[in-house]
Amino acid sequence: SVSETTATAYPNIALIKYWGKRDEALHLPVTSSLSLTLDIFATVTDVRVADDLPADVVTTADGSPSRAFTAKVVAFLDVIRGMASDDRRARVHTVNTGPTGAGLASSASGFAALAVAAAGAYGLDLDRRALSRLARRGSGSASRSIYGGFVQWHRGDGLDTAGDVSSYAEPVDAPQLDPALVVALVDAGEKAVTSREAMRRTVETSPFFQPWVDASKTDLHDMHSALAAGDLPAVGEIAERNALGMHATMLGARPAVRYFAPGSMRVLDRVVELRAAGVAAYATMDAGPNVKVLCDRRDSAKVAAAVAETDETMQVMVATPGPGAVVGGT
Ligand code: DP6
Repeated sequence: SVSETTATAYPNIALIKYWGKRDEALHLPVTSSLSLTLDIFATVTDVRVADDLPADVVTTADGSPSRAFTAKVVAFLDVIRGMASDDRRARVHTVNTGPTGAGLASSASGFAALAVAAAGAYGLDLDRRALSRLARRGSGSASRSIYGGFVQWHRGDGLDTAGDVSSYAEPVDAPQLDPALVVALVDAGEKAVTSREAMRRTVETSPFFQPWVDASKTDLHDMHSALAAGDLPAVGEIAERNALGMHATMLGARPAVRYFAPGSMRVLDRVVELRAAGVAAYATMDAGPNVKVLCDRRDSAKVAAAVAETDETMQVMVATPGPGAVVGGT
């Protein structure tokens, strides 16, 4: 027999970061994290399960993906086959609508879309919380892309089954906020360390890791107050300090991991200048040179123009809150 499901999911950008695992196999994080799902750069994934396939086949818009990507997808399908008690192999076709290689949380949208599509194709009837746990098995940050808007991923408690069950994502209300994220696609010029490797190295070697973990607890607590109060400047300040603190843990790793490129620094400087000029704009960065600037939606054109001035050739996009992962194409 044959069954097929298509799903769409969007990337998310963490305002309180996930950096460090307490269990590598289940992707159980050291800290809870909180993000905003975007409305740009969707991933659309189709999963077709059939009796006659001798092995899983993974394809992308531009042909076949890297071996590393295929291996991650196959490992993820093995998790689903275990849950569904179904050995059939699958054909997975995935299309990223964002600029390829820009490294904009494509693993988050990718594994969220794959979780929804594969659960459908293998006939698993999972609620959103269960889908967020499942997406986490592909990539930790993908757990948050199951939901739209602001989302918290709970670190959960314990290891093994207890850890797996308690580490899921859920939406966070912030009805008074009307935010935008201005995404500056900065060119790195060199190949960076993968986030998986960088995270491991930070946990194992950085003397600054534990202090950031402690600070992150306070940041998360303060972030909830700021979101509930609809206080964008407070949300931005907390997000910026949390992100810079995460990068400080990496700079302390041995050998150091540094994602800041010259272009990233120019955007960070511009954000400081915007604030000096009275515009509420705050920067965050992930495992790459791109800078995302949080601001109010009504300031987004001004912020985008100011950021674009730092490099005429750089792509700058404005994102606003986007939806959770759904069955269907775009
Ligand atoms: C810096 O979710 O890509 O973007 O769980 O190993 O797949 P794995 O890592 P991943 O890490 C994301 C790290 C981050 C911060 C964040 O999104 O919270």
